[in-house]
Amino acid sequence: MRSILTFSTTLLVLAGFAGEASAADRASIALQIQMDQPGSRIDRNLFGQFAEHLGSGIYDGIWVGKDSRIPNVRGIRSDVVAALRALRVPNVRWPGGCFADEYHWRDGVGPASKRKSTVNSNWGGAAESNAFGTDEFMDFIDQIGSDAYISLNVGSGTVAEAAAWMEYMTADAHTGAGRERATNGHPAPYTVRFAGIGNESWGCGGSMSADYYLSQLKIFSRFAHNLNPLQTGDKAMWRIAVGSDGNKADYVETVMRAWKERPWSWDMEGVSLHSYTTVGWPPKHPSTGFDEAEYALFLADTLNMDKLISQSAAIMDVYDPAKKIALVVDEWGAWLAPLPGTNPGYLVQQNSLRDAVLAALNLNIFARHADRVKMANIAQMINVLQAMIMTRGRDLVLTPTYHVFRLYAPFHDATFLPVRVEPGVYSAGALSLPRVDAIAARDERGRVWLAAVNLDPKESVTVRLATTSGEFRSANGETLTAPRVDAVNTFEVPEAVEPVAVSAQSTGDGLQLALPSKSVTVVEIR
Ligand code: AHR
Repeated sequence: MRSILTFSTTLLVLAGFAGEASAADRASIALQIQMDQPGSRIDRNLFGQFAEHLGSGIYDGIWVGKDSRIPNVRGIRSDVVAALRALRVPNVRWPGGCFADEYHWRDGVGPASKRKSTVNSNWGGAAESNAFGTDEFMDFIDQIGSDAYISLNVGSGTVAEAAAWMEYMTADAHTGAGRERATNGHPAPYTVRFAGIGNESWGCGGSMSADYYLSQLKIFSRFAHNLNPLQTGDKAMWRIAVGSDGNKADYVETVMRAWKERPWSWDMEGVSLHSYTTVGWPPKHPSTGFDEAEYALFLADTLNMDKLISQSAAIMDVYDPAKKIALVVDEWGAWLAPLPGTNPGYLVQQNSLRDAVLAALNLNIFARHADRVKMANIAQMINVLQAMIMTRGRDLVLTPTYHVFRLYAPFHDATFLPVRVEPGVYSAGALSLPRVDAIAARDERGRVWLAAVNLDPKESVTVRLATTSGEFRSANGETLTAPRVDAVNTFEVPEAVEPVAVSAQSTGDGLQLALPSKSVTVVEIR
């Protein structure tokens, strides 16, 4: 029997519908936006980025140096800044990742000529010049109009080092650390909106047991003060604890239980979740030249994000029913085999239309969990893993995933509106996936937006759009698709996968919007 399904906070993956649908059913589906049941705010920080000192994620990707012939402002490449400004990037996590737990901030401040070179032992043993340090990162954040998410070194650093770093970044210019920052060119305290207390402390961050990590969390949370006098109330810095590795949730249980029973002397505002779409470990699936079976496998795998979030959220609900603590998915995305000929430690992969669809599915999942998930960071921003941008010398390519993040910009801080839809089924071999996946939201100006993914790589689908409060007359926006699921943008053909304008007007049959096969569509509906 078929039924109308409500997508509110859970994603329903259906099985067994394909055989029941008639040809006419498959051609069109009904989608109703519940205007009268507004949900949580879709925090703009769900669209955050992650930039680690890894491969050419920072050097070449962001930093080219002041003397470079590539146009730059104080060493930061201008083409990358312009592209990121268009995404309205809400926050950038830096300097890692695994790198963060080996990063000693003092190596990266002060006169460039005096900075010593170190070894990036996590990522290919590359030489780390430390030319891009705290002041350069903050300059970059300022140029792209974003917020800083600093990962503190818990693994190989000390509490004193983390406290001193916070002081350097946030203290008044009249104090010792603030004066040093002023001497280095920035008298005003920086805003550190988010601080991660360790990274993957269950793994590369020190293989700590949950209890051992908790003891570190309490100490770092107590002493790594944000001293910026302007960061009070709503602007106070969030401390984000290490949480689930995507399989084991013992960290979430341990830190949340302790948080509920905490004395006045420590606190936190978020708990992380890391989960990559890899289809097995180590990552071995190609980022180009794959077939439909591989496409479906990755989409099925990525939809597990919903379950992982529910798992962490269920534990958090026990200790924090008021949802004061945010779940922060601060590493997610497709992790694929390194491109042939590249250093495997640099995590270079191509970015296809499949990855764009995968990104949209995850953003939809985060939005459905917006009551608990307040922040997420795709890995990683430039030249590494599921990147927004790829650079080669002075050339730059915007990836299909970049386009998804731009299309979703209207959802930043918009209010979630539940969608009732018959998603249908896309069957691929033994896999049954929803054929259509959609979210809707009302933005701060009252405009209503729909993001709809057609997962089916072969058939388009027409969506009959309805609302609980009157008729929709028109839909206008953009669609991202390509002839093949493995279509990519390259330095030679940078615009192979680009969004095109779409619009639909209401007729006697109501408002109908066509979703091409394997596509991501974002429209404003009136
Ligand atoms: O994003 C690459 C790596 O993946 C990060 O450094 C680490 O935190 C995770 O394991």
